[in-house]
Amino acid sequence: MPVNNKIVLNVSVLELKTASLVKLMTKRVKIAHISDLHFSGKQDRRQLDAFDRLLNHFNTVGVDHLVISGDLSHNADQGDWQLVKDKLESHALFHWDKCTVIAGNHDVINLEEEMRFYNALNPLPLLRQKAFARKLADFSLFFQELITGEKGVNKAFPFVKIINFPSVKIALTALNSVYPWYPADNPLGARGSITAGQLRALSHENVLASLRECFVIGLCHHAYRVYGTDSLIDQAFDWTMELKNRDEFLVAMKVIKARIVLHGHFHRFQSYSVEGITFINGGSFRYSPQQYSELLIGREGGIEQKFLSLP
Ligand SMILES: [Fe+2]
Repeated sequence: MPVNNKIVLNVSVLELKTASLVKLMTKRVKIAHISDLHFSGKQDRRQLDAFDRLLNHFNTVGVDHLVISGDLSHNADQGDWQLVKDKLESHALFHWDKCTVIAGNHDVINLEEEMRFYNALNPLPLLRQKAFARKLADFSLFFQELITGEKGVNKAFPFVKIINFPSVKIALTALNSVYPWYPADNPLGARGSITAGQLRALSHENVLASLRECFVIGLCHHAYRVYGTDSLIDQAFDWTMELKNRDEFLVAMKVIKARIVLHGHFHRFQSYSVEGITFINGGSFRYSPQQYSELLIGREGGIEQKFLSLP
């Protein structure tokens, strides 16, 4: 676990001291991005084997960092998080500087349970909010090594992870976009919202100062853009999946000068541009276990992105 070259909101960054490795200095940073694994128990050998193959491939081709943008579990089950952790560990990827994960709605909300308790007990929204916050804290604690890297700390979002690669300094700026289940406002638990506190934290001068020389990548689970067609069916679907305050999110991404935003949630491999920022949807490993997004970032911040399939 690195200590010197990480920041959590306002800690400074280790500077690169070795200028002699010319080859390393010019090498582009390779980031693999996957999403929406939706593991549901260890009996699904096919999926576990497919995950082994993919992680093996990442090590064979030399990926510098892996990003998993949420929905590791299908039913908010810690056992599924453990499966992901075990696989990452067995491929030497469970390290702060090798991998970053964030939670998706399926990691935090068990829809069936929410509905059952709601119908049985009709608990106060405040109680549900508390349970939600506890589950998100559980996730953050479970994956702390890949989040802030601090043991025993369950406070995570937003977090900024700065990695000093020899050729470019990369800042992964992660926000939690999962929003609690509410019967009227979020009936499928799939609508997203990013709290005002998280958005505000990013514009703090210490954060902006830390990001100044970095290639900044934004990260959240929900999509900025879903279908967006005129069809009423699509619009109804969009509503259940959308990031409610995507406009504020976009403003925050501009404030931190994000070049790229990575997300998942909406199971489609796609990239699109919004006001100069490239959004990349990492699709779904569950449904396309052969596919992933590869992002190459050069010394001067030049980027190349491709969706690749395993050979
Ligand atoms: Fe999702």
